[in-house]
Amino acid sequence: MAGITDRLFRVLAERFGAGMVVSEMIASNALGVGNEEMVRKLGRPGTLPHMVQLAGCEAEWMARGAKIARDAGADIIDINFGCPAKRVTNGYAGSALMRVPDHAMTLIDAVVSATPLPVTVKMRSGWDDDSLNAPEIARRAVDAGAQMITVHGRTRQQFYKGNARWELVRAVVEAVDVPVVVNGDIVDLATAREALQQSGAAAVMLGRGARGRPWAVGQIGDALAGKETQPAPKARRLPN
Ligand SMILES: Cc1cc2nc3c(=O)[nH]c(=O)nc-3n(C[C@H](O)[C@H](O)[C@H](O)COP(=O)(O)O)c2cc1C
Repeated sequence: MAGITDRLFRVLAERFGAGMVVSEMIASNALGVGNEEMVRKLGRPGTLPHMVQLAGCEAEWMARGAKIARDAGADIIDINFGCPAKRVTNGYAGSALMRVPDHAMTLIDAVVSATPLPVTVKMRSGWDDDSLNAPEIARRAVDAGAQMITVHGRTRQQFYKGNARWELVRAVVEAVDVPVVVNGDIVDLATAREALQQSGAAAVMLGRGARGRPWAVGQIGDALAGKETQPAPKARRLPN
């Protein structure tokens, strides 16, 4: 999450048992010209696989960004097809890519060809209620080489309003043969269980539910595995 999952946050989330953490979204064109802020966002958190999320709309920049990320130690490249922000979608990146599937696939092709790293994609359920095309985009993404799909169960036009519709993610699970991660409005054990049950997904992703609570991911993971954990107050201190 831009502005939230910086390196320290990811260090803490890992320390508290998160199974996977993802960098902030990194603009591939800015990264490609050495923008300092984007380079800083590439920081490796700890010992978990280092998953770096790239955003952009041009194959050449995405490929260049992927190579820079790999050279900085990335283990997995995630591609953003989900950001709803106007400054991102006006540049035809983020969720706007769901409206132009042929073009979106050129970005996946470029990133898959640029490095040997596994490539994953994060998307929304569609642009709006009339175009719930996540299953089709996911299937094509997997054909292009994506190895995991994460779906935020809202449309772009919903932004963050209304509820995430976890049941819409089930069609994505059924469309592909790679792990699908369900995302949106998951904040505790009950919502995690419900999202998994409605979607049939392999895992859950937390966004806002972990803001200010880097222990939430590990705690919910433990709870799903039948263990109850509470981080000791001392453990909540920032690491050096
Ligand atoms: C402040 C903020 C920043 C975000 N930045 C990103 C981002 O960089 N990349 C991304 O894929 N999603 C980003 N998201 C979306 C979240 O990852 C997530 O898909 C969405 O908030 C729904 O899940 P949640 O209800 O668990 O937060 C962001 C959301 C917020 C609120």
